[in-house]
Amino acid sequence: MMKRITALVIAGLTAAALTGCGSSGSEGGGGGGGDDAIVMGFSQVGAESGWRTANTKSVQSAAEKSKITLRFSDAQQKQENQIKAIRSFVQQKVDIIAFSPVVESGWDTVLKEAQNAKIPVILTDRAVDSKDTTLYKTFLGSDFVEEGKKAGQWLVEEYKDAKDTVNIVELQGTTGSAPANDRKAGFAEVIGADPKFKIVASQTGDFTRAKGKEVMEAFLKSTPDIDVLYAHNDDMGLGAIEAIEGAGKVPGKDIKIITVDAVKDGMQALADGKINFIVECSPLLGPQLMDLAQKVLKGENIPARVVTEETTFDQEQAKAALPTREY
Ligand code: AHR
Repeated sequence: MMKRITALVIAGLTAAALTGCGSSGSEGGGGGGGDDAIVMGFSQVGAESGWRTANTKSVQSAAEKSKITLRFSDAQQKQENQIKAIRSFVQQKVDIIAFSPVVESGWDTVLKEAQNAKIPVILTDRAVDSKDTTLYKTFLGSDFVEEGKKAGQWLVEEYKDAKDTVNIVELQGTTGSAPANDRKAGFAEVIGADPKFKIVASQTGDFTRAKGKEVMEAFLKSTPDIDVLYAHNDDMGLGAIEAIEGAGKVPGKDIKIITVDAVKDGMQALADGKINFIVECSPLLGPQLMDLAQKVLKGENIPARVVTEETTFDQEQAKAALPTREY
């Protein structure tokens, strides 16, 4: 499967030195396991959340199990780093590129470069908004709009008998990212049917715990009478809990909290009564990604969209699920 091993080793070492790409997988950096070893260039968003750490582990261990050599690059939440990494993978003549785009827009040029070099691309976790869908083979990941809707549906049910206005603050994910755009839209669509639900403040917390805390502190100062916090991921919700406790309020009671992800720390806070509801977003995409990559390279037909199966958790369900939770 490797195209020209000698050229690859030289180009690979040069490009890795330039961009800080690392390699992992059973075959080592040069894909020296023989002509059949697949080399995948993988550009990860960063390490912003517990979800992301679990996703990276899933991709790395699945690559190892499938004997796929992984060239792994961490973009530190910067699109320019992802574009550099993809260009470097093209230069290295990897067999396939997979990436989780930090934001939705601005990918056409670099994806065209990969296409011109005849290197197939798989989108994983997050989507791009390119009109030209031939630029990638498939998109594997969650339905983020559906996740937002599930969050909204819980809220509507929880407050079905309330007569007064329900004041909601929202901690959005990274600006311009698919999960931030879609989780906001899905939630707004569901709660928009009843005028008693009011989003009184909405700001990005960049999917991190530190930013979640900082923005929630500002919300608590600027916005009186917050009834509900909707955080686009667990980490921001966990940061916000610190801010709420710091302000002398009881998370889960004085302010109801809905988050997305269901990583262990989030599930623990849910079981402890500090979060009220979590919409699951599974980071365990590695095995499906490797399977799709192998199929693409064998020329097999694959679906244009592969949606991850996910559930939701209330406090009792979190207690039951925690002992066997993988991530
Ligand atoms: O793209 C998935 C999102 O990215 C997760 O929900 C969030 O925790 C992560 O940073």
